[in-house]
Amino acid sequence: MSKVEPLPREPQTTVARSLPVYEIERLSKTYARNNLTALSDVYLTIHKGEFVSVIGSSGCGKSTLLKIMAGLLPPTTGRVVLDGRPVLGPRPDIGMMFQQATLLPWKTTIENIVLPIEIREGRAAAKAAHVRAMDLLELVGLGEFPNVYPGELSGGMAQRASICRMLVADPAMLLLDEPFSALDEFTRDFMNMEFQRICMERGATAFLVTHSLEEAVILSDRIQVMKARPGRIVEDVRINLRRPRTLEMINTQEFGEIVAHIRELLGKEAHE
Ligand SMILES: Nc1ncnc2c1ncn2[C@@H]1O[C@H](COP(=O)(O)OP(=O)(O)O)[C@@H](O)[C@H]1O
Ligand SMILES: [Mg+2]
Repeated sequence: MSKVEPLPREPQTTVARSLPVYEIERLSKTYARNNLTALSDVYLTIHKGEFVSVIGSSGCGKSTLLKIMAGLLPPTTGRVVLDGRPVLGPRPDIGMMFQQATLLPWKTTIENIVLPIEIREGRAAAKAAHVRAMDLLELVGLGEFPNVYPGELSGGMAQRASICRMLVADPAMLLLDEPFSALDEFTRDFMNMEFQRICMERGATAFLVTHSLEEAVILSDRIQVMKARPGRIVEDVRINLRRPRTLEMINTQEFGEIVAHIRELLGKEAHE
């Protein structure tokens, strides 16, 4: 009698990467106030460990998409599912970051970082989370600043603190709306590299809204190119540059070709 061999199993990491985290189907959004169709027929699947960006001109519907994904805004049609459960409102397994760090000026850096926990679970839970918050401060290079007030932090440091606040509840998904666009170019480049390192170390799954082509290409595994009126995804561009990405890659031909391709897709819009 022949022995039944167990099927060979794929390595765990491959299996984990192939699992969808976010599934967005047939999403549309019409703002009732002005009857404006901000999103039309958006489909998007994001797998565990993937870094996906959306790029498009101002007003094309990027923030609308992110707000619906975050459960902050109801869609007109379609559905958003995270880890098998529909997103119907804000959730602790979704971490968010915006252009402004929005740290409370009367709380210290570490108190700001544990604030989402304080709001959800109370003071004792927030205090208990200080150990984890300290680890995160170390991770972003702010290990010496837990007790400093936001007024004493530079723009880049404040955004590092808001990275910690986004990560403190160990969310399954990170949603970022132009988080580095208020920073000067030099700080932004640096933060892009830092953010890549943090995402790689934590195996993060992320969705980034940006209007910077270079930022999208340097950070992403895939870029969703969006066009306006109505806001829709016109192309899913896969970025196969090896990781970790470096700023030097920006000067390579491969990088330039990707940027040129997306610029052409976006550029047509201005003349339509
Ligand atoms: N609350 C709202 N009510 C009515 N129209 C809105 C609202 N929010 C955004 N819009 C409009 O929807 C479109 C998409 O906006 P938004 O998603 O913020 O674009 P983006 O983030 O790409 O700049 C824009 O034309 C904007 O003016
Ligand atoms: Mg926006």
